[in-house]
Amino acid sequence: MNYEGKRVIVTGGLGFIGSNLVLRLVELGARVTVVDSCVQGCGANPYNIASVADRVEVVKADIGEPDCIAEVLRGVPVVFNLAGEISHIHSMQYPERDLEINTLAQMRFLEACIRLSPGARVVYSGTRQVYGAPQYLPVDELHPVNPIDFNGVHKYAATMYHLMFSRSGDLDAVVLRLTNVYGPRMAMDVPCQGFLSTYIRRTVTGGRLQVFGDGRQLRDPVYVDDVVDALLLAGNEPKLVSREYNVGGPQALPLSEIADICTHTGGMAPPEQREFPPERKQIDIGSYYTDSGRIERELGWTPKVRFADGMAQTVAYYREHMGHYLKPGEPNPECKLGPGTYRLMPA
Ligand SMILES: NC(=O)c1ccc[n+]([C@@H]2O[C@H](COP(=O)([O-])OP(=O)(O)OC[C@H]3O[C@@H](n4cnc5c(N)ncnc54)[C@H](O)[C@@H]3O)[C@@H](O)[C@H]2O)c1
Repeated sequence: MNYEGKRVIVTGGLGFIGSNLVLRLVELGARVTVVDSCVQGCGANPYNIASVADRVEVVKADIGEPDCIAEVLRGVPVVFNLAGEISHIHSMQYPERDLEINTLAQMRFLEACIRLSPGARVVYSGTRQVYGAPQYLPVDELHPVNPIDFNGVHKYAATMYHLMFSRSGDLDAVVLRLTNVYGPRMAMDVPCQGFLSTYIRRTVTGGRLQVFGDGRQLRDPVYVDDVVDALLLAGNEPKLVSREYNVGGPQALPLSEIADICTHTGGMAPPEQREFPPERKQIDIGSYYTDSGRIERELGWTPKVRFADGMAQTVAYYREHMGHYLKPGEPNPECKLGPGTYRLMPA
């Protein structure tokens, strides 16, 4: 891929997916600038990119305050726009916070991109959550949009900003709608990041896995290296046929099987089945798995890593590095967000 010597910005580059992308971009010889404001309650962790810290410029700034990043943004040809909040639960608890992070900051950032790097390729990490509870499976890009939580609504607004500016010719933007992503460098000290981060944390630190409901709901987890491949292809393709691509994992697995694979990897007791807690039932979408046919046909991407293999690699990573992700004696982190944590930058 053509990244050698290329200037590239990764927003959210200290977080889970962003940092894995940064590592690969450095390997490919790109000149990488990370813009991350280390939002409380998101997954920023400088350790994620410690191994390449001397080859990456890191700007601690909020993309919603573009004056702070005007210099790095000027004339950049490719932006991987991964800054965002992933927690559906947080979005329901603090909707204004989610609105600020996932929508308002994005609108301001894209306006700055148009001003400072008109026509830039902007690859945005959207989410499958915008589809809501599937009306059919697998879910393709033509599936109706009907999000059931604030996170899905706000991410959809940001998706539409990207598409709108592409349509107007101001930016060359493309949106990848990601399913549940897992792998090394996920935040382990932040609660409410989805069931996979809880499963991984418990698989490494010990503790029983719980399956909510009957365990038959399907998910198609996608390994982060596969997601990085998709992002790189979307950033590199000279002439995009489409502007929206679904990105899913290689297998549709029932939650009970996902939990079994984790417990097998960790050598733990079998998972326990539980009723859905009401706050989770409210935002549960039932079964979901992705039709990734469009990105396969148009960009030549396929997910390669099967869940058992990806989970083994993930657990091996955290067994070695957990001290950088979770304080000893804190295996079940509490949510530290409160009404005063809307601000993106610490005062
Ligand atoms: N992880 C998943 O399963 C998943 C699924 C679908 C979509 N996504 C999307 O992918 C992106 C990355 O997710 P992740 O899992 O790496 O999350 P993450 O929380 O690990 O990383 C997000 C990063 O963005 C930064 N950030 C947030 N708002 C910012 C702002 N206004 N300015 C600068 N930095 C900001 C945070 O500090 C954090 O480092 C998000 O946009 C998310 O919605 C993730």
